[in-house]
Amino acid sequence: MKRISWKSPSNIALVKYWGKHGVQLPSNPSISFSLDHCYTETSIRLEEGGTGIQSFHFEGEAKPSFIPKLQTFLDRVSPMLPWLSGFGIAIQSKNTFPHSSGIASSASGMSALALCLADAHAAMNGGEIDMQLASELARLGSGSACRSVYGGYTAWGETPHIPGSSDRYAVPVLDVHPEFRDLQDTILLIDSGEKQVSSTVGHGLMDGHPYASARFEQAKDHIKRLKGILETGDFMDLADLIEREALTLHAMMMSSNPHFMLFKAGSVAVIRSVMEWRAKGEPISFTLDAGANVHLIYPATYAQKAMDIIQAEFLGFCQDGAYICDSVGKGPAKIS
Ligand code: DP6
Repeated sequence: MKRISWKSPSNIALVKYWGKHGVQLPSNPSISFSLDHCYTETSIRLEEGGTGIQSFHFEGEAKPSFIPKLQTFLDRVSPMLPWLSGFGIAIQSKNTFPHSSGIASSASGMSALALCLADAHAAMNGGEIDMQLASELARLGSGSACRSVYGGYTAWGETPHIPGSSDRYAVPVLDVHPEFRDLQDTILLIDSGEKQVSSTVGHGLMDGHPYASARFEQAKDHIKRLKGILETGDFMDLADLIEREALTLHAMMMSSNPHFMLFKAGSVAVIRSVMEWRAKGEPISFTLDAGANVHLIYPATYAQKAMDIIQAEFLGFCQDGAYICDSVGKGPAKIS
């Protein structure tokens, strides 16, 4: 069969997924938006008569060390793709963002691969690609990846506030105020080092965490509130909610056993400054991933002022002055 290629974006969660159970099922619902510029391009070649992952190349170089993780993913998805047993898979992948940036590539990488497989499934069965299937496959590779198969805002995890929502796959959140459809995300690259603790280990530390159930309830309440805010378009309400989410995520890490802290001094300096700017009425806020980088979130109409603040105050905290300007994106695309 010929090569199949997809590009798929990274995403940034506004209400965070942190804690899972069973096979990649979330302990609470989450909502993110897909980014525009940070994405992975992946090609697969199906080799008839082969089995399993035959090779993996990242940015042109063979990376055999990735194969066991990819094989685990393939084993998980194969019951849903019965034809897979007759094929081996050669995978090539590359990112638009620097590998050393500290930006999690599992969401874009796993969603791009899942889209290739869902597309191959459609070709085998003679139909259109099923995005729900793609999202479910992506979830089995990395939880947050299931939200990357759509553009704009996406929800993962069953909640009464989003019709059709499921723990198994993500769904698009369509009722979004125009003000938020081009929200900006400038990622300040505070630290590009290896993650001190992987997401998988971090999720695991929510098992038996003394604050776990309160956190999961808070996230459910935040979904309800975020859904309303996305409809009304009030940026200051959004800012208040997403900052509490980001800080709660890190508070969970700092109060787990063993505890860990991913902030760097620069992360804290930027966060404090953003809070001060907003206290003065400026529409700028932050969110965080499981790392030291700070995502500055602000409306497109505020971009000029935000860039002035970034240049004047924040570049000194970025490693080699590096940052990435991104925004809400349109979602994955097939590459012909
Ligand atoms: C902090 O999706 O990377 O970014 O399911 O183990 O692959 P796995 O975890 P992952 O966790 C992402 C956690 C987060 C929050 C989020 O994206 O919702």
